[in-house]
Order: sequence, then structure tokens, then C-alpha cells
Amino acid sequence: MTYENITYEVEAPLAVITVNRPKRLNALNAQTVAELIAAATRAAEDGAVRVLILTGAGDRAFVAGADITEMSEMTPLQALRFAEAGHRLGELLEAMEKPVIAAINGYALGGGCEVAMACDFALASEKATIGQPEVNLGIIPGFGGTQRMLRRVPIGMARELVYSGRSLSAEEALRVGLVNAIYPADELLPKAKELGKLIAGKGPLAVARCKRLMTAGLGLPLGAANELERQTFAALFASADQKEGMRAFLEKRSPSFQGR
Ligand code: COA
Repeated sequence: MTYENITYEVEAPLAVITVNRPKRLNALNAQTVAELIAAATRAAEDGAVRVLILTGAGDRAFVAGADITEMSEMTPLQALRFAEAGHRLGELLEAMEKPVIAAINGYALGGGCEVAMACDFALASEKATIGQPEVNLGIIPGFGGTQRMLRRVPIGMARELVYSGRSLSAEEALRVGLVNAIYPADELLPKAKELGKLIAGKGPLAVARCKRLMTAGLGLPLGAANELERQTFAALFASADQKEGMRAFLEKRSPSFQGR
């Protein structure tokens, strides 16, 4: 598939998806959402990729929201289809085994904030501005923002942000835990790649199972989630990676994981 509105690059063990509509501040129209779904699926299926990084082109925006020009003409049915596609993208990023890092290089508003929250975690540049401004337009977040914000930041802050449409600076986003770290603009992508490579060097099955447990566990009672953890812990003792990881420790050398 060729992409019009994104770029997809593999620098094994990393893949980088860049939303590339800088004249529209990387706003998400339906075509861009479809391309993001296609590229994320590719990354999920590519055995050479261990970590996916999502970012935006240019020095102003990660994604400044859903495309308001396109949305302004939508019927309710078209709006439903658009929201469904946004939800499919979020669910895909959460369901894929490989960690996904959002590198928020500027405005992450509306759909941009929602896509970033569907990633495993986010790093920000000093220029990041993050929020859910939909109420300014007389609509609500439609790509999972009302729900994922509740799970990302303290509940009162989630409500304040969604009801008021107020955006956070990078510093404020760090304080409420919406991003993990802030870097100067030119260091953001290198830092995201460095962290991606660190994760990619760990046992791939182990990282994949951690992601699955920590995503699924959010929707489960603690007892059921812990039971799932015990079963997953035990099952990994049948893996070559567990044998290699422990043998390497005992032999005082670096492990060579195969992801099986
Ligand atoms: N959808 C469509 N186009 C958008 C867009 C969006 N979400 N965000 C920005 N753009 C376009 C602008 O219309 C403008 O196009 P133009 O050059 O043809 O006029 C271009 O991108 C640059 O944006 P501009 O508004 O001129 O930049 P700014 O620095 O003055 O303001 C923002 C930047 C992000 C504050 C402002 O663009 C904005 O509020 N965007 C909408 C954010 C939003 O509500 N997102 C949620 C949508 S549900």
C-alpha cells in the first residue's frame, strides 16, 4: 500500500509512523485514519519490528485533531463510521503485542490526544500542547477520549480537561502523567528511539505478555487480572526466551532472545 498522508519507515527493531499533513497540522481525515490502521497492522505483523513509534511531521503538530473541514459536512451515519474507524485504530494500537510509543512533537489535540492515549505511553517535546478541545466545536471526543482520559490521569483532571476543552502545556501534561518525559524538540525522536531500542532488547514474549496483561487488566477485577498474570507467568516457563534469559544471567553474559 502506498500512503498519501503518513510515512512508514522500518529501522529494525523499530518502526516509525509519521502523520504527514503538516499544512493541516497533521489533522486526521478518514483517509489518514485508514492509512494509520494499515501501517499499524503492518508493524504488528512484521517480525523484524519490536516497537512502534508514532509521531507527526513538521515542527508544529503531532496531530491537531480530527479534520474539522471534513467533519463539518458529515451526516450522523458518516460521523458514526468515522468514530468507528478511530476506535478501530485505538483498539489496534492497544491490542498489538508490540509496545507503541507516542512522540508528541507539538499539538496533540482531539483525535491527536486520543491516538496518543491509545499508545502504551507518550514522550513529549517542549512544544507539546495536549487536550480534548471538542466541546469548543459543540461535539464530544469520538475516538475514545472520554474513556481513555479517565484511565490516564486522575479522574477530576480527566473531567476538567474533557468538559472545559482546556489544553495542557508539556509541563502540565507531565505533572498529570499524560506524558512520561519532556525533551527539547530535536531530541524527542532520538530519545523515543533510544527507549524503543531498550525495550526491543528485552525478551519479546515477556514484553508482549506484559502489554497484554496490563491492557486487559485495566478492564478486569484485580483477582481475575492476577489470576491471568499467574497463568501467563507459568506459561512463559515453556519458552526458549525464559531458558535463555536465566541461563545468560547465570553464565554472566547478555541474553540472545528469539521471541519463542
Ligand atoms: N482540522 C482541519 N484543519 C486544521 C485543523 C483541524 N483539526 N487544525 C488546524 N488546521 C488547519 C487550519 O485550518 C489552518 O489551515 P489554513 O492555513 O488553510 O487556514 C492550518 O491548519 C494551520 O492552522 P492555524 O489554525 O492557522 O494555526 P494556529 O497556529 O493559528 O493554531 C491550533 C493552531 C492547533 C490552535 C488551531 O489550528 C486549532 O485550534 N485547530 C483545531 C484543534 C481542534 O479543535 N481539534 C479537535 C478537532 S475535533
